[in-house]
Amino acid sequence: MSPPGDSPGEGAETGNRADSLVQRKREHVRVCLEEDVRHPVISTGFERIRLPYVSLPEIDLSDVDLSCVMLGKRLSMPFMILSMTGGASLSKTINRNLAMAAQERGVALGLGSMRVILEDPTAADTFRVRNLCPDVPLWANLGAAQLNLGCGVEECERLVQAVEADGLCLHVNALQEVAQPGGDTDWSGIIEKMRMIAGQLSVPVMVKEVGFGIDRNTAGKLGDLPIWGVDVGGAGGTSWLEVEKIAWGRDDLDAFDEFGTPTARSIVGTREACPDKFVLGSGGVRTGVDAVKALALGADFAGAALPLLQPATQSADAVCRWLDRFHQEMKVAAFCAGAQTPASLKDVRLEDQDAIKDPG
Ligand SMILES: Cc1cc2nc3c(=O)[nH]c(=O)nc-3n(C[C@H](O)[C@H](O)[C@H](O)COP(=O)(O)O)c2cc1C
Repeated sequence: MSPPGDSPGEGAETGNRADSLVQRKREHVRVCLEEDVRHPVISTGFERIRLPYVSLPEIDLSDVDLSCVMLGKRLSMPFMILSMTGGASLSKTINRNLAMAAQERGVALGLGSMRVILEDPTAADTFRVRNLCPDVPLWANLGAAQLNLGCGVEECERLVQAVEADGLCLHVNALQEVAQPGGDTDWSGIIEKMRMIAGQLSVPVMVKEVGFGIDRNTAGKLGDLPIWGVDVGGAGGTSWLEVEKIAWGRDDLDAFDEFGTPTARSIVGTREACPDKFVLGSGGVRTGVDAVKALALGADFAGAALPLLQPATQSADAVCRWLDRFHQEMKVAAFCAGAQTPASLKDVRLEDQDAIKDPG
């Protein structure tokens, strides 16, 4: 991608592009705050499986310890606040509140798509929260489709450095790109470009879906890449098809409602295909019980985005309150399942796990 502002004409154009990215983000945030954006057809699959209830857990609840490490940083629980915003002015408030709460409660934090910074470097200000969360893993974010539009290692490195991130999330969202105006729909050859970026970037790369889920085949391909991890971003939570339909008044996209891999199935398939990688279970994780199920299915961490959006528009305290309830739910769920640590959750045998099997 050429640097913005080389000539007056190009400057105006890139300025317009940055404006439209900011405008689009503003509309996404508005729709997510005001409308029902749950997946209209697919559920996560968490409701189809049960954690075993151990009548005699033989554990002291106060000894349940969910603390863990991500990228060498100690956290209070295996949880990440997933990428949401940046660019627009409300985004700055949201990112700051999320960062303060992430630091206060010891959870990882993902920033929203940072492409706008490549168009308008001054937009970096709305993403700069490193000083507010020095001790937790902070993830930069870019759409993987940008790798076909001139973004290479240099641009990715620039984004990471701009916010002093510990890692880079590359998001995959093919159907969303189809549904949004001016979306980027050339996904040819992206896997090889991811291989190149992950092999050369100075920080770890995580590939993340945004709510359509990583299917088993794709998980197999990701398993061969030098990436650090995969966030399955499964179907059953926020639907980005739904968001785009509402945001732009599209009434021609209902036929695609059935697309997506449910979160629970996506976790199982990704874990199998990527045995040595970090796997993050997300997409419709709404309670600590969901998170514990995600870990029992094979995820290393759980994550959520939408439930944290409203609190983040209010204050860091509001985000902390959400995280506190979630942490307590995770603790009690682990206790009831007879597990004292995240590692021991991997040995928990879920009831009805066949209900979420991949038909393929
Ligand atoms: C308001 C909002 C903005 C989002 N923006 C981004 C983004 O810029 N980049 C990205 O990778 N994912 C983005 N996401 C997707 C989330 O990171 C997450 O993958 C998805 O919403 C599924 O999780 P959930 O069901 O807990 O919301 C956004 C989600 C929300 C709610």
